[in-house]
Amino acid sequence: MTELLVKGGTVYTPDGARKVDVHVIDGVIARVDAGLHVDGARVVDATGLYVLPGGVDVHVHSRDPGFPEKEDFGTLTEAAAAGGVTVVLDMPNTVPAVDSAGVLEAKAALARSRARVDFGLWGLIRSGTTPDQLDGMAGAGAVGFKAYLAYSFSLSRKQVLYSPGTDDPDLEPPADYGTLARLASDVARLGLPLAIHAEDATILAAFRRPLLSYTDLLDSRPPEAEAVAVSAAAAVARDAGAHLHIAHLSSALGLQAAEDAISAGTELTLETCPQFLLLSESDFDQVGHAMKMLPPIRTESDRAALLDGLKRGVITIVSTDHAPHTDEEKSRSFEEAPAGSPGVQTLYLSCLQLAKDMGDVWLAPRWVSEAPARLAGVDRHKAVIAPGFDADLVLVDPKAKTKIASRNMRSRQKRGALEGKEFDFAIRQVFLRGERVDRAGPARGRMIRPAVGVR
Ligand code: NCD
Ligand code: ZN
Repeated sequence: MTELLVKGGTVYTPDGARKVDVHVIDGVIARVDAGLHVDGARVVDATGLYVLPGGVDVHVHSRDPGFPEKEDFGTLTEAAAAGGVTVVLDMPNTVPAVDSAGVLEAKAALARSRARVDFGLWGLIRSGTTPDQLDGMAGAGAVGFKAYLAYSFSLSRKQVLYSPGTDDPDLEPPADYGTLARLASDVARLGLPLAIHAEDATILAAFRRPLLSYTDLLDSRPPEAEAVAVSAAAAVARDAGAHLHIAHLSSALGLQAAEDAISAGTELTLETCPQFLLLSESDFDQVGHAMKMLPPIRTESDRAALLDGLKRGVITIVSTDHAPHTDEEKSRSFEEAPAGSPGVQTLYLSCLQLAKDMGDVWLAPRWVSEAPARLAGVDRHKAVIAPGFDADLVLVDPKAKTKIASRNMRSRQKRGALEGKEFDFAIRQVFLRGERVDRAGPARGRMIRPAVGVR
């Protein structure tokens, strides 16, 4: 039996922040109470620190298997652990893309051999996906299904690609609203979320242009593309009784479409990302290519609307869309540089700052832990500091500052969009099921499987 006692901290509990101690036995929280003493336990002094539930990032791209030069499960989860994220949900656009039970199982085995934190795997919905394939992926433990509207699929490379306007027989057309309508009742039957990359293909086609400047990028991915995709997918999901999840919401117009869909009775969750809450187009001159991502970081009024949506509790989840490429790839011309930026290591710190600036620092664990754990179907044993839950704990110093600097980043792409930002917090220690994971150690990460039908 291994016992741990986290003493003297301010603990975020279901009853709010309390000065209590946390007693952990074999990785599971046993007691949360004041003045605990346990003979033989390893004691961690948390005086002056916050004790928070581990983060759950519902949107990361491990690049593993497929692009080890960009990232792998080892570097991804090292970055996650350093940032207080103890569960990552990996997107299915690895190579081969996760479109069947067999691919999901092979990816799970590989991830298990390298993961420093727990992980879950999303399954892919292609335009060619069958209900049997959904059943298979659910049986293999998928946390949900993701459809990349507007992104085609290379049959020979088994890869999700953004390649509009090409007439290549190797490219299977993107999943569209027809695909969603065909499969939504099966997704509903399986009790898993239906996530979309919300950009409408026809609107993107109408606004395609060479990308010579940041303005071109914004003009090529207008917010209407997001709003139309949200509305159309919501109509389909509502009718089928499926839970729709909008990945990386980026615009005021998209938020309005989502709110309309919620009013109409759609079961819908919204996720946005720190980069959409902290940056806007005017930052491009300073941040550079790390800011190139899709959907793009938009205007100041989009940023304000997203912050407001988060404050009002309409947007419940903050994820990162951690999407690393190599520093060399990101240094190519604006048009050639691939879209995406790392972020998992800075999720918790940036959200603590956003929450503090909104006047309630305890909003942060709701955005990055509680609500994401519900989406992942693991809220019965994670994301709560109470007896019976996994001891995934993050000790945060609210009196120290952290300046985001490439040299401290564990991801393969060092320079993220938040480089240089300073936050009023520092992460001191991170525990996964009662063991430190924020410094070198073994691959202890396990695959999480959603509890289906109990949400
Ligand atoms: C992501 C990637 O590189 O995989 N890129 C991005 O700019 N967000 C794809 C995605 O999440 O849409
Ligand atoms: Zn996406």
